[in-house]
Amino acid sequence: MAKKTLRDLSVSGKKVLVRVDFNVPLKGGQVADDTRILAAVPTIEYLIQQDAKVILVSHLGRPKGNVVPELRLDPVARRLEEILERPVKKVNEALGPVAERAANSLLPGEVLLLENIRFYRGEEKNDPDFAAGLARLADVYVNDAFGAAHRAHASTAGVAQHLPAVAGFLMEKEIRMLGSILEEPKRPFIAVLGGAKVSDKIKVLNNLVPKVNTLIIGGGMAFTFLAAQGYGVGRSLLEEDKIPVAKEIMQVAESRGVKLLLPVDVVVAQEATDKAVSQVVPVSAIPAAEMGLDIGPATRKLYSEAIAGASTVLWNGPMGMFELPPFAAGTQAVAQAIADSGSISVVGGGDSAAAVAKLGLAGRMTHISTGGGASLEFLEGKELPGVAALQDK
Ligand code: 3PG
Repeated sequence: MAKKTLRDLSVSGKKVLVRVDFNVPLKGGQVADDTRILAAVPTIEYLIQQDAKVILVSHLGRPKGNVVPELRLDPVARRLEEILERPVKKVNEALGPVAERAANSLLPGEVLLLENIRFYRGEEKNDPDFAAGLARLADVYVNDAFGAAHRAHASTAGVAQHLPAVAGFLMEKEIRMLGSILEEPKRPFIAVLGGAKVSDKIKVLNNLVPKVNTLIIGGGMAFTFLAAQGYGVGRSLLEEDKIPVAKEIMQVAESRGVKLLLPVDVVVAQEATDKAVSQVVPVSAIPAAEMGLDIGPATRKLYSEAIAGASTVLWNGPMGMFELPPFAAGTQAVAQAIADSGSISVVGGGDSAAAVAKLGLAGRMTHISTGGGASLEFLEGKELPGVAALQDK
């Protein structure tokens, strides 16, 4: 169901509460990666231009209802000021008299950032009174926090019951991009799934297999599939209890004519460190004492060639332990192949988004989701609570 967006409302002179996902990494009291802040800027700039009074609310980390000084949002406010090139007011509360005074004294076009909403116990409980208190700050609610839309919390869901509630531009774009590849992908449609565990991706696999033309599997989860094919996987990550699931997925793929690509060779080592001595072996000869930590060169070639023929590629999860240089080549090859393919490319957040950024390929992808868990749940086919709470068009 299409949701109302910012464009469906008049916001001039109104107090607009905007849920953003400013859950960004901090280092030495500064924002270490401002990707998520930048992603919310179109919504914030639009509201400023429309003479709205902008009240931003976000979580940072998992303080679990306690005030954790290192998780205050002041560094985020400073970074946002630099980006917007205008003052951003910041208060040490997210609701109550201090926050209300700050919200009520805003002039049109001014921006206020509230304190970390997870300092309050009512947030994660989606406490109705707490949500009502938050709603008292504003006239209108905009959810632009796609990354937190899988949480049914007061600031992502509960508050929407009290105010006109619409999607911001980032939220709109994420739903459009992720939604369109699931619903009407340009074919051939290839999904590249990696990451450590099959158990984390079962629902995504089940949702995607009937939709894709080709499914490419890498990362730790590939070893459960290889074990399901009867290979010995040495000390590689293996979820024995998920072997039947892997078998079933392979059967469904076969019955639907979906091409399933698994590694044909792997990079193995005795330890997962950046100084590990590694070697390449075919999947039929993984030494018992070693573990597979990346896809091998023949697999990189196989996967890259398949990706080159795609019109749409969805990528979620690295091909190996790319954070360690000896095991980064597989993820790098896949990222490069996607960038070079000229396909509609959607990268589903988390580790794969980090890999693309690290490789300097972010600008060559059609869309990189700002959601980790949220994009995964979206790809599972779930309706996210933060989206469900918004008004239908
Ligand atoms: C994220 O980083 O994925 C989002 O900000 C959600 O954070 P959470 O997993 O702590 O709810």
